[in-house]
Order: sequence, then structure tokens, then C-alpha cells
Amino acid sequence: MILTELDGGTVIHRLSTPEDIERWRPGFIGAYQTVFAGFPYFERFYPDEAQGIYKKLTSAPNNITLLATRGDQVQGFGVGIPLTSKRSVANQMTGLVPLQHTFYLAELGVLPEYRGQQIGRTLVRERLRFIDPDCYSHVVLRISTNNTPSSEMYRAMGFTEMGVYMNVNSLRTDGQVNSDRRLFMSRMLSQVDLDGLIPKSTP
Ligand SMILES: CC(C)(COP(=O)(O)OP(=O)(O)OC[C@H]1O[C@@H](n2cnc3c(N)ncnc32)[C@H](O)[C@@H]1OP(=O)(O)O)[C@@H](O)C(=O)NCCC(=O)NCCS
Repeated sequence: MILTELDGGTVIHRLSTPEDIERWRPGFIGAYQTVFAGFPYFERFYPDEAQGIYKKLTSAPNNITLLATRGDQVQGFGVGIPLTSKRSVANQMTGLVPLQHTFYLAELGVLPEYRGQQIGRTLVRERLRFIDPDCYSHVVLRISTNNTPSSEMYRAMGFTEMGVYMNVNSLRTDGQVNSDRRLFMSRMLSQVDLDGLIPKSTP
């Protein structure tokens, strides 16, 4: 399903049928490997690992899987799933947010050559737009503690830092396995102004 088209011809799709999911699988895998091999994560994902992640995300109940494409090229991806579908993160959030009513923005990436064209922001905004407000009240995500550009973007979209961190162990592009620190950010879904995503001011 096509959600919107940006200046420059990038199309934002929501993947909702098995045919769509299969069609875009190779493009997602390539984009995922490239995005996370760069700053700030420097992670090495083999194709079968990226494929496993894609399969898991696209089969999570109520997943919101968005791709930014131009022609046959995947330029970016943004995936959200219920927090309960991501056990390791839900464990960290216990007692801080209502687990059953929290959505997790699991993945976001735009290929380096297409950054700075509002694709990332649109992938966040469109995911928030599709979260069912009758089921979910909170949205959480995690960012690298090195990752200034994305934290600025999320702050501008009403997310605030929770003061909660998690270490993630990964294989890096230099062949080492080590951990990096991720910071959780959250916001209430009801803060979302669907037209502009500007936080509503409280009286
Ligand atoms: C974070 C990311 C998805 C942003 O994608 P993008 O398409 O460039 O984002 P946008 O063009 O919508 O820009 C959104 C904001 O990001 C920031 N930003 C984008 N490019 C930037 C750059 N080159 N330098 C500094 N800030 C930048 C700005 O705050 C920008 O807001 P503005 O439009 O008001 O200036 C992209 O940089 C990326 O894939 N990074 C690597 C993976 C990653 O960090 N993912 C996030 C995990 S939570």
C-alpha cells in the first residue's frame, strides 16, 4: 500500500501482503546491511541474519513495516512492532511503561546517499500514524548513545530520553564482537498531532 510520495520521487509503502513482503525482501536485506555497517553502529549482518530479522519483524502481529523506495531500489526502512513482540527490550521496560500498551519503533535506516531528504522523519511519522490508539498509549525506541542526528530528530518529534540504557552485543565490521550502549526514548501516543507531529502544548 502506497502511503505518500516525497519530492524527488521517493515512495513510502506499507508492506501488508505476503507478495509485497517477498518482493521487497532482497532490497530490505541490502539496505539493512549497508545502513548498520556505517556510523554509529558499525555492525556486520550477514544476509541470512538480515533475512531472519526481516522475517521476524514482518510476521510480528500488528507490525508496521514501511519502506522508502524509488523504482526497484529500497532507500530506507522503518519498522514498528508491539513491545511484547521484542522480549529483550520489553524486559528492560518492565515497570516503566505499560508493556501491553506500548509500541516499539524497532528499526529505522536510510541509505547514506539519500539522507537529509526527510525520508527518515517521514518513516517515523507514518509509523506513528498507523499505531492503533485504542490499543497503545506509549511509544518507545532506542538510539545509540553516539547517535546525535537521530536523537535530534526524535526530540523534535516529541520523544524524551528515559534515562534507561541497554548494552547490545554485536559483530562489528572490524570483526570484533563488542557491546554498544543504547538509550531509550519514549513519548505518549496521544501527544501526536497527526497533521504536523508537533507536541500539543499543555495548558
Ligand atoms: C537517522 C536516519 C534514519 C535519518 O534519516 P534521514 O532520511 O537523513 O532523516 P531526515 O532527512 O528526515 O532528517 C531528520 C533529521 O535528522 C537530522 N539529520 C539528518 N541528516 C543529518 C545530517 N547529515 N547531519 C545532522 N543531522 C542530520 C536532522 O535533525 C533532521 O532534521 P531536519 O530535517 O529538521 O534538519 C539516518 O541518518 C540513518 O539511517 N542513520 C543510521 C541508522 C540510524 O542511526 N538509525 C536510527 C536508529 S534509532
